Amino acid sequence: MNSIVIAPSILSLDYANVSAQLEILKESKAEWLHFDVMDGHFVPNLTFGPDILRGFKKACPLFMDVHLMVEDPETYAPIFIKNGADLVTFHTEALNNDLTRIQKLLDEIHGLGAKGGIVVKPNTAIEPFESVLKSCDIVLIMSVEPGFGGQKFMADMLKKVEWLKEKREALNLSYRIEIDGGINQDTFRLALNAGCDTLVAGSYVFKNDIAKTIEGMLE
Ligand code: DX5
Ligand code: ZN
Repeated sequence: MNSIVIAPSILSLDYANVSAQLEILKESKAEWLHFDVMDGHFVPNLTFGPDILRGFKKACPLFMDVHLMVEDPETYAPIFIKNGADLVTFHTEALNNDLTRIQKLLDEIHGLGAKGGIVVKPNTAIEPFESVLKSCDIVLIMSVEPGFGGQKFMADMLKKVEWLKEKREALNLSYRIEIDGGINQDTFRLALNAGCDTLVAGSYVFKNDIAKTIEGMLE
């Protein structure tokens, strides 16, 4: 059984107050930081580059969970790993759902000494990726359309979580199951009950008392 990890998404950080919030995160029960990289093409929003990741890692040395929402993860995964990513997840859609390319990128990420996994958007089925699960340290299920924080949780996505949990057992694997989007005081329980062990939470954490909100999900 994997332990429960909360990964606050710094997309929802108050950017007028970064140092103070990173200090709180450092002292909190969060073991990971979720770092959303958006390129303005794969999703209609633009966020952080590798230099920002390096700065965050220095200021707040938690495990860096880098979620690449970019058209070209084959170029950017190695760059983010060199700049502090401990784990990189990339969207299968960005590689045309091509299993050969997906397997190759997972191998490359591992070769660079990082952990790796795949992410699927809400409209992408998870079953076609069964053959690469053995190479995933984590599988990330989007429970909103990627691009923005603060959207409504799509409970239907929990079916993918249940499938992943069954497959993990059947195939005797140990990947983590992560969910991203719309996690709040109600939905975090649904996600845990379905089999998630890694919860990304953005607006819920940063619009409330950061440390207490994280702790509340771990109780
Ligand atoms: C959305 C990002 C999420 C986002 C989640 O594309 O991948 O990580 O920060 O935000 P909330 O928790 O507010 O839905
Ligand atoms: Zn994310």
